[in-house]
Amino acid sequence: MIAVMGATGNTGRMVSERLLEGGSDVRALGRSADRLAGLVAKGAEAAVGEAADAGYLTGAFRGADAVYTLIPPDVQVEDYSAFQDQVGEAIVGAIKESGVGHVVFLSSIGADQPAGTGPIAGLHRQEGRLRSLEGVDVLALRPGFFFENHFETLGLIKHQGINGGAVAPDTSLPMIATRDIAEVAAKALVERDFSGFVVRELLGPRDLTMAKANGIIGEAIGNPDLAYVQFRYEDFEASLAQMGLSASVAALYTEMARAFNAGKVRSLEGRSAANTTPTSFETFAAEVLVPAYQAT
Ligand SMILES: NC(=O)c1ccc[n+]([C@@H]2O[C@H](COP(=O)([O-])OP(=O)(O)OC[C@H]3O[C@@H](n4cnc5c(N)ncnc54)[C@H](OP(=O)(O)O)[C@@H]3O)[C@@H](O)[C@H]2O)c1
Repeated sequence: MIAVMGATGNTGRMVSERLLEGGSDVRALGRSADRLAGLVAKGAEAAVGEAADAGYLTGAFRGADAVYTLIPPDVQVEDYSAFQDQVGEAIVGAIKESGVGHVVFLSSIGADQPAGTGPIAGLHRQEGRLRSLEGVDVLALRPGFFFENHFETLGLIKHQGINGGAVAPDTSLPMIATRDIAEVAAKALVERDFSGFVVRELLGPRDLTMAKANGIIGEAIGNPDLAYVQFRYEDFEASLAQMGLSASVAALYTEMARAFNAGKVRSLEGRSAANTTPTSFETFAAEVLVPAYQAT
């Protein structure tokens, strides 16, 4: 049996689906039985609880051959770094208590840096905790910028006719489809062919600047002249707070944008066949972003 955290989310849902399709038993973790019902209908067992609750996680990990772990983004939490640490410690405590031997952790490029990268620094701290576990094999996946992040500005595009953010138009990042992360994670959870603490970067099919990604979005939605505007950091942070994100999350996301623009969040391996994944941003835009834009 394989236990999957964040099973209603971007990566966890597809990890669970790939595992079920391949014939694995899956325990799907989330906070709501209703939201997990789709996976239960496909054969998963639901385990409902809070990621920061070590007792719940221990029960959910017990008996698993491998676990998929992540630190969920809870954008309303008052102190997001403290929340990341609390969840991270709960995960590590549950790994020890349950005796699970194989762990895949969703980290990020930039997790080599201890500070100055916003929420990614919390993933650096979690890699440190996992690295110190004895007798547990850990694969830390370090993907680039999720294609799914572009959902966040579909409302802005639809209602104000522009796209934008705090990341500079010429900042280039490896961008990736979460379905491709899920493929790699599911395969690793089944094959468990990693030993010790292993880092693996996942860089999407190519690096894209924000301007290039914006151009692809504009083409896909039938607005090839769509402009991408870089917001001032203070304005970006204030707009996130206005959208209901906590002050702590707004500040960390702004710090992350600064780190992207400064080139601090980057691949250490360099691009290779092993870290290049297949789904193109054009394909994702046509199949996923356009329907979401139409429904916005
Ligand atoms: N976005 C990026 O570009 C990027 C890049 C690299 C790494 N990452 C990392 O990837 C991770 C997120 O992965 P993801 O996108 O697959 O996750 P996600 O879809 O954002 O969230 C996963 C699930 O977590 C659950 N959740 C939210 N708050 C929770 C809480 N307080 N307790 C328990 N569960 C909670 C939610 O499910 P329920 O509400 O149903 O419980 C949600 O569906 C983060 O650690 C992020 O830093 C992101």
